[in-house]
Amino acid sequence: MSRYSRITGTGSFLPPKRVTNAELATQLAANGIETSDEWIVERTGIRARHFAEPDVGSSELGVHAARRALEAAGRQPSDIDLIIVATSTPDMVFPSTATILQNKLGIAGCPAFDVQAVCSGFVYALTVADAMIRTGTASRALVIGSEVFSRILDWTDRTTCVLFGDGAGAVVLEASDTPGLLASDLHADGKHVEILCVPGGVSGGKVHGNPLLRMDGQAVFKLAVGVLDQAARAVLKKAERTEADIDWLIPHQANIRIMQGTARKLKLPADKLVVTVDQHGNTSAASIPLALDVAVRSGKVRQGDTVMLEGVGGGFTWGAVLLDF
Ligand code: UT7
Repeated sequence: MSRYSRITGTGSFLPPKRVTNAELATQLAANGIETSDEWIVERTGIRARHFAEPDVGSSELGVHAARRALEAAGRQPSDIDLIIVATSTPDMVFPSTATILQNKLGIAGCPAFDVQAVCSGFVYALTVADAMIRTGTASRALVIGSEVFSRILDWTDRTTCVLFGDGAGAVVLEASDTPGLLASDLHADGKHVEILCVPGGVSGGKVHGNPLLRMDGQAVFKLAVGVLDQAARAVLKKAERTEADIDWLIPHQANIRIMQGTARKLKLPADKLVVTVDQHGNTSAASIPLALDVAVRSGKVRQGDTVMLEGVGGGFTWGAVLLDF
């Protein structure tokens, strides 16, 4: 009998502090940075985002999301035998956010590690967990995307600081006799490192370079539309499905224009596109599991639905996962 993986529970968590575009514009204006609700909504679809308090890191947001996913799956932390956290904003340089989160869950022993693929992190992490489950290395995994991008934003750069937010999403992925994850398609092209990066690090006890996010928005936009379409078509082909089989498209939530463009290329009606970017902003690796959980809890995504997840981001990295929920 073949061994597959299937999502058995989803969860998410947003830090309580919610900041609307108008509130952000007022805060930025105090420092001489001009922006407006109108510009942000028109160019991105974002209306609000959440920010974590300074002492709250990715492991803390992630553990709340993980507990909710475990509850939805009817599982205890002790049932978990693999933890993967997708994040580009880890609590520490090391150890991994996954080990810190494991300890917060009160468990020990199972493998726990981070995946760093920026906004594609969740589709990368889900693919790794699926492979480990199918080969028998794990049976019940927690796959989490968690970010505190507010820590790496340059508040003097209006082209980036209005775009991002903090949050976490999680799924429990379990071994199954019937396929949940149908196919996955992952890519990276390191020649585009500079269009989206945090070009800094630590060395000799000091910060070297610039530890704040830099993005050439237009270059990212152009690349994103093309590669997302390629990845979507590749997973459909691998899974021997067609666009007509997709019940829900859950792309990385960065910009409503990119998301709608992707849906149009797949000839999907607008109501099959799950949108949370308006309320969450871009939460990088957390955006897809956050959107999935919102769609599940609102009754949109139901058991048996076919769902396309698509990530794209720094690296340049991109990929898609097709699954039966
Ligand atoms: O998470 C990884 C994936 N990331 C993405 O997918 C992001 C992809 N890129 C984008 O979403 C868009 O390129 C942005 C939202 C970042 C920018 O939108 P755009 O339509 O490409 O705007 P632009 O960069 O061409 O800027 C247009 C104008 C400029 O003014 P001028 O030169 O035309 O006078 C900017 O200075 O808008 C100005 N501008 C702003 N104005 C008010 C840029 N940021 C702001 C702002 N408020 N926050």
